[in-house]
Amino acid sequence: MKKLITILPGDGIGKEVTAEGQKVLVKIAEYFGHQFDFNEALIGHDAIEATGTALPDETLATLRKADAILFGAVGHPHYDNNPNLKVRPEQGLLKMRKELGLYANLRPIKLFDELLEASSIKPEILKGADILFFRELTGDVYFGEKGRKDNDETAYDLMVYSKYEVERIAHKAFAAAQSRNKKVTSVDKANVLESSRLWRAVVQEVSKEYPDVNLTHMFVDAAAMKLIQDPRSFDVVLTGNLFGDILTDEASQIAGSMGMLASASIGDRVGLYEPIHGSAHDITGKGIANPLASILSAALMLDISFGLKDESQAIINAVSQTLKEGYRTIDIADSKTEKIKVLNTSAMGDMVAQRIAVNETITN
Ligand code: IPM
Ligand code: MG
Repeated sequence: MKKLITILPGDGIGKEVTAEGQKVLVKIAEYFGHQFDFNEALIGHDAIEATGTALPDETLATLRKADAILFGAVGHPHYDNNPNLKVRPEQGLLKMRKELGLYANLRPIKLFDELLEASSIKPEILKGADILFFRELTGDVYFGEKGRKDNDETAYDLMVYSKYEVERIAHKAFAAAQSRNKKVTSVDKANVLESSRLWRAVVQEVSKEYPDVNLTHMFVDAAAMKLIQDPRSFDVVLTGNLFGDILTDEASQIAGSMGMLASASIGDRVGLYEPIHGSAHDITGKGIANPLASILSAALMLDISFGLKDESQAIINAVSQTLKEGYRTIDIADSKTEKIKVLNTSAMGDMVAQRIAVNETITN
């Protein structure tokens, strides 16, 4: 199979982790006899420095030609504490999602058994948890009308959803539930918000087409509590952009660390794959970032965009094998376990890439 993959490293540790994701993709191509061609483009802070905008037209043109995109992260501390700056790295990511029609963000939360002790949640609560989030990605307060009034003394962001936006992601969530445990939990705040009442009505309507899937509704505050109290009670979680952003950071603790969680953003055409973590400037340049979320994002790409199930599984097996042998980055290193060997970012990438070779030899 011949594919063109655009690498968008972005800012901070984004650069460090995508290099490892790419390393593993190169290895997969080599072992399974595919041709993956790579190109690279600018986004975020670096793009602002070079061109004055967070998503240059040239980047967008490159992305439109790609078969899939591996993205790192955007963000820079310079902007975080300067709320008055008009051009911001995150605008690049939001514009890219909108322009490429990436309305469905899939965030699978599954704990590798080896990391049971790495989470701050008790192992007996976690074991066996397996959740797939469908976070709507191109609507909500993120894209509603926003502005200032009253001489800048009031600010607003409109929470807005249209029927078609809820329908299209709901269909994806229900279809996914059919090949899992046939449960969808739709999360909203319908006791307070009008947009949530529309959300709930549309989800109920769509659910009629999936009689084999059990639908429950939950308010977002209750869902936040339940996720930590009983993560195993969830299968597919369907929710809006803002609630999904918050709940998936929370749910990352179920997978041991933010550094483990991969995501896929899909929609009209090209798919984008990225860790759920940010640019983490506090650890940038130290070589300690966990590349597994980027590597697992590459696995999602192979499965979802290219339909390469065996290749995708080979990556997951290689990650699992690496963890089993005791290799960890610092964020998932549990000092109670003696056989742990702490690796830096690129050594972790090498380790996983090498184990792809081993898996191949074993299965053939
Ligand atoms: C995410 C991030 C982004 C979001 C930021 C960087 C704009 O937190 O992908 O979860 O809020 O969507
Ligand atoms: Mg987030």
